[in-house]
Amino acid sequence: MPVLGVVGVQWGDEGKGKIIDLLASGADYVVRFAGGNNAGHTVVSGTDRFVLHLVPSGALHERTMNVIGNGVVVDPEHLASEIQSLEARGVSIRKRLLVSARAHLIFPFHRELDAMAERWKGAGRLGTTGRGIGPTYSDKAARTGLRVGDLLDRDHLTARLRATITEKNAILEKVYGHRGVDAEAAIEAAWQAGQTLAPLVCDTGALLRKAAADGKTLLLEGAQGAMLDLDHGTYPYVTSSSTCSGGFATGTGLPPRALQRLIGVAKSYSSRVGEGPFLTEQINEIGELIRVRGREYGSTTGRPRRCGWFDAVSVRYACALSGVDEIFLTSLDVLGGFERVFVATAYELQGRRLEEFPAHLPTLDGIKPIYEEFAGWPDVLRTCKTFEQFPEGARRYVERLEQVVGVPITKISVGPERNEIVDRVGAGAK
Ligand code: IMP
Repeated sequence: MPVLGVVGVQWGDEGKGKIIDLLASGADYVVRFAGGNNAGHTVVSGTDRFVLHLVPSGALHERTMNVIGNGVVVDPEHLASEIQSLEARGVSIRKRLLVSARAHLIFPFHRELDAMAERWKGAGRLGTTGRGIGPTYSDKAARTGLRVGDLLDRDHLTARLRATITEKNAILEKVYGHRGVDAEAAIEAAWQAGQTLAPLVCDTGALLRKAAADGKTLLLEGAQGAMLDLDHGTYPYVTSSSTCSGGFATGTGLPPRALQRLIGVAKSYSSRVGEGPFLTEQINEIGELIRVRGREYGSTTGRPRRCGWFDAVSVRYACALSGVDEIFLTSLDVLGGFERVFVATAYELQGRRLEEFPAHLPTLDGIKPIYEEFAGWPDVLRTCKTFEQFPEGARRYVERLEQVVGVPITKISVGPERNEIVDRVGAGAK
């Protein structure tokens, strides 16, 4: 399938890194189209575990080109150090990585502004990753941002960045009463990082359009998840980019019709980092058990993730939004050994049954999930090679999820290793 997309259909952290890594062995290009180093995509190879933040998850495959598209926001110092640390671990990424000249740049003042905005909001904070994502996308929309292409000419970079820092420091100092950033140090650091990135910078849109026309295999790697989408997620508790499939065209320069098949990655339960509504959250020993068994700690910030039951209402909504063709279900092993397992199949508001995820946040006040209960199954999934070998409880759970979400579940991940994935033969044909 020449142009294939992969998106998260929950709140991020669905296990997309493993899935992209798996599919990347057959891909010519793996392309990030949104977000920045707020993402943390974990890929495991043998005993080696890599957490990729900006470098696409095709990094470990020697014949795969990795492309950071124009929709991504790039912290140049972070990217330069991610490249260096991959190379220090024997992954020669430099010759297999390209960065769009149009991608917007994150600078230290963006991170400071992110932190100050959060502090200013107090109890109403979003719980951002603190990577400067929101302020950078704001500058992009305000048409004041600098882009990767601006790193290539020292005089131009110096003039643009000095002017921008003067304005941003005035905001930091006068509005927030916070110390501004050192302009000369920031300019020098950006220039040095730009020197590492310069050989990788190109018009990735033109390159990808040609690659698609030549029949190359392109894998579009979503970041975060549908419920964090700027338009369609639980606004304002969202990230600042289009995380659904709608974001891939603007974020790569490929036409919307290029996408031929879309995989939605869903975890077998739910998790969320940061603030915002989460109707199936379990603030109790069940949530704690899921967190421990699923190692649910942020791969970017290390924060403990909020955990709860699978929310089929939001996953159904997310799959419809993106046009998901099939679901890869992850971390089913984590639920092994629970006596009973629950899935929210609808919501209830003032005695009314809701099947759709509400468009407006205050509507969520007083809303309750309607749960379906399942008998648990023994903790043996990691030893199963086929779906038929799964205990009956696990099979029933998967079949019911597929039914309520309305999308076939074609692969099920039962552990972190590359080979711990089970095919559901024939499921995609439904
Ligand atoms: P920001 O993207 O740093 O602005 O954070 C906005 C919200 O998105 C916060 O709730 C973050 O915790 C969440 N978020 C951002 N990136 C990720 C991710 O990769 N996984 C899970 N949550 C994320």
